[in-house]
Amino acid sequence: MTKRESLRDHRAGDGDVAARLLVWYDRHARVLPWRVPPGGTGADPYRVWLSEIMLQQTTVAAVRGYFDRFTALWPDVQALARADEARVMAEWAGLGYYARARNLVACARAVAAAGGFPDTREGLAALPGIGAYTSAAIAAIAFGRAETVVDGNVERVVARLFAVQTPLPAARRELTALAATLTPADRPGDFAQAMMDLGATICTPRRPACGICPLTQICAARAQGIAADLPRRAPKAPRPVRTGTAWVALDATGVLVERRPARGLLGGTLAFPSTGWDGSELPPPQDGGWQALGEVRHVFTHFELRLTVLRARLRNPARGEVVSREGFDPLTLPGLMRKVWALAE
Ligand code: ADE
Repeated sequence: MTKRESLRDHRAGDGDVAARLLVWYDRHARVLPWRVPPGGTGADPYRVWLSEIMLQQTTVAAVRGYFDRFTALWPDVQALARADEARVMAEWAGLGYYARARNLVACARAVAAAGGFPDTREGLAALPGIGAYTSAAIAAIAFGRAETVVDGNVERVVARLFAVQTPLPAARRELTALAATLTPADRPGDFAQAMMDLGATICTPRRPACGICPLTQICAARAQGIAADLPRRAPKAPRPVRTGTAWVALDATGVLVERRPARGLLGGTLAFPSTGWDGSELPPPQDGGWQALGEVRHVFTHFELRLTVLRARLRNPARGEVVSREGFDPLTLPGLMRKVWALAE
């Protein structure tokens, strides 16, 4: 090998990355229920959209069951547009970030009214709940548009490929610009999903499997022996802790629940009555007889919440609604409230 060739070997960019990655993807693509096989066309925009919304902040493993249930209940966007929002919220319970579920229904209604999904990134980005990442992903995967899709996996792959030393989150623009130089005009959707698969299965956060990586010869971080150290991250401020109280009023026949306000944390989900989670006080939903059961902890993006759980026999609540014990399914509660229930039941 000449010196020039070996130098080129350690440089990412041009069509080389896409070509190598697509060859790898043709053999190793994960089989996922919203995908068409590598090289295929005609991915269903509804399934692509639904999967991308579900996959935000959530792993493929966690999403699979939800995706199967949603598509069985609502096989197309028209069906989801007709769905009752509370039913959709109940099916979403456990996936987290509940604003996504409310936007899901709003988006389905807008798309059904328009007669289908727009097929450009700009058109998609105008819909409820579809931001920069999701619009690019749907445009590329469902419509073959040469858009650049950058999620956490792709950021990591690109940071390593180009040995970007700038820490996240400041590096984000730079990584997006570098990722854009890699996106091919041909098979952009497969390319986007290949980057995701590479990040999820080989170019993993702690111990990248560089030995079996299709990009190992052109990876700058690999050449410098620093792949596992990238991307660098600015030190995080510790998560603040907030406290509150949750009240579970129940008897053999019923349980007191309350729908949370549409806006704000766990907006629109079913919950046990509680104080505010920002230190604000609120009286218990009924008088007297409260017994402390313990504390549950739950991590939100910007803080950790510790709720003291109190239980009492149900009688004349001043707020909330009583649901029958048979009609009460804790699986329709968000994760935090399932933890409360686990203490109180
Ligand atoms: N994460 C987000 N979107 C994905 C996709 N289409 N395939 C695999 N992982 C993903």
